[in-house]
Amino acid sequence: MKGSQVVRPLGSPALEWLAPVSTAAVILGLCRSLAPLAPALDRDARDKPQHDAGDFVSASPHYLRMTTQGPGRHIHLETARLTLRPTEPADVDRAFEIQSDWAVTRMLRMAAFPPNPGELRSWFCEHPDEWLAGRAYRFAVESAGRMIGVCDVDEIIDGEGDLGYWLESAAWGKGVASEAAQAVVRFAFEQAGLRRLLSGHAADNPASGAVLRRLGFKATGEGTALYRSRGAPVMHICYAFERP
Ligand SMILES: CC(C)(COP(=O)(O)OP(=O)(O)OC[C@H]1O[C@@H](n2cnc3c(N)ncnc32)[C@H](O)[C@@H]1OP(=O)(O)O)[C@@H](O)C(=O)NCCC(=O)NCCS
Repeated sequence: MKGSQVVRPLGSPALEWLAPVSTAAVILGLCRSLAPLAPALDRDARDKPQHDAGDFVSASPHYLRMTTQGPGRHIHLETARLTLRPTEPADVDRAFEIQSDWAVTRMLRMAAFPPNPGELRSWFCEHPDEWLAGRAYRFAVESAGRMIGVCDVDEIIDGEGDLGYWLESAAWGKGVASEAAQAVVRFAFEQAGLRRLLSGHAADNPASGAVLRRLGFKATGEGTALYRSRGAPVMHICYAFERP
């Protein structure tokens, strides 16, 4: 759930950024030019067995096996308390429930509020193809078998992707986002082969900033971004994290 925005490097004069700018390009450019090297991830993950990347056995009668551009969709990420699995179209109903909470959706740049069921369904239906094409890896976050949110990497191009996450408000404040996002960051670097992750959050969303910094992301710029959910420009801080 990402969108366009105008950003400026931290400390740069705001007036330079009054002209309309293509924001995806700007945010990517800023993160590319300003991101410092980040501390290493927990190396324990490197000892875990790797998936058989690249192969996907399909249930379709039209083909038995296809080669993907990244990890197969059979992958599950297990953490101490959570299971992360590729999203499915059937997840749309839980997603609709979660995004019907203004406290959640006001923090998402590209989400509509109230959520549009048809639009959300179309979006979830795209996920399998996005995954197989290596354009986006979106995980349903499950606790005790119940989906409580999504953590994803999308806008993947040239070894870079954008990390995002959203959880039902009942799950907040328990370290769930940090735990889920750490697993997805490891996946992105160690299994999907990405070399840099970008992310960002509204300036009035300090919890998301805390999650990103805990993971090793560094702030690279700030500026205004149009938040579809709020129908208004919002101060936004962008971050980057290089593969250790
Ligand atoms: C942002 C969000 C994912 C955080 O989920 P969470 O599971 O509560 O996050 P965690 O518990 O792992 O970490 C939250 C951190 O923020 C801190 N925090 C929470 N509220 C805070 C506040 N008002 N000010 C400063 N820090 C705050 C917590 O102390 C914690 O940091 P710490 O572990 O270093 O103490 C969740 O609030 C959410 O889904 N929000 C709506 C959607 C959203 O904002 N998505 C991200 C868009 S950029």
